[in-house]
Amino acid sequence: MKFFVDTADIEAISELNALGMVDGVTTNPSLIKKSGRDILEVTKEICDLVDGPVSAEVTATDAETMVKEGKKLLEIADNIAVKVPLTFDGLKACKELSDGGAMVNVTLCFSGNQALLAAKAGATFISPFIGRLDDIHLDGLELIEDIRTIYDNYGYDTEILAASIRTPNHVLDCARIGADVMTAPPAVIKALANHPLTDKGLATFLADIESAGIKIL
Ligand code: E4P
Repeated sequence: MKFFVDTADIEAISELNALGMVDGVTTNPSLIKKSGRDILEVTKEICDLVDGPVSAEVTATDAETMVKEGKKLLEIADNIAVKVPLTFDGLKACKELSDGGAMVNVTLCFSGNQALLAAKAGATFISPFIGRLDDIHLDGLELIEDIRTIYDNYGYDTEILAASIRTPNHVLDCARIGADVMTAPPAVIKALANHPLTDKGLATFLADIESAGIKIL
């Protein structure tokens, strides 16, 4: 499973990228707002840093302007994936941009039917939002399973990009189901390393190192 990092924080991306843990980046208007940076500038900086796809989201709601914005975003770098919302206009923009050879990430997906439409419109990535479904007591992971089944049934090559990941368990479940990509905030990716038995075992080893005076250097 590919790991995308869901942030526009350059420092956080750099830290994980240096460890080989970043296969791509996703941003959205809320993350751009949080960064306090200009969308074009910060997106360019991210694209220079990371080899994989960097999703940058359009701001318009009509297909024609989405396509114009998408083309402007595509000028930033070769690894831009234009992010469009899963509306009928978003699907029109997806079709036009993907027909032109662009990578397109269709975002805000909350149903299998929406994912089916995105695949038919030529999406490179479909972004089902797990956490936001869980927030309203629906099953986000069931949606990932549905989309996996639908895409496999018909051989669609649109990649399932599990988004709105909030916990390490979401990551594990997405990997079990077979999501192609997951995107998570840096803190969730770092938390994947944590286990209480690792901490407990290390504490014992450190105590033995101290009491036995074990030295390597
Ligand atoms: C993905 O592309 C989105 O930016 C993101 O995963 C949304 O996550 P949230 O629901 O935690 O805001």
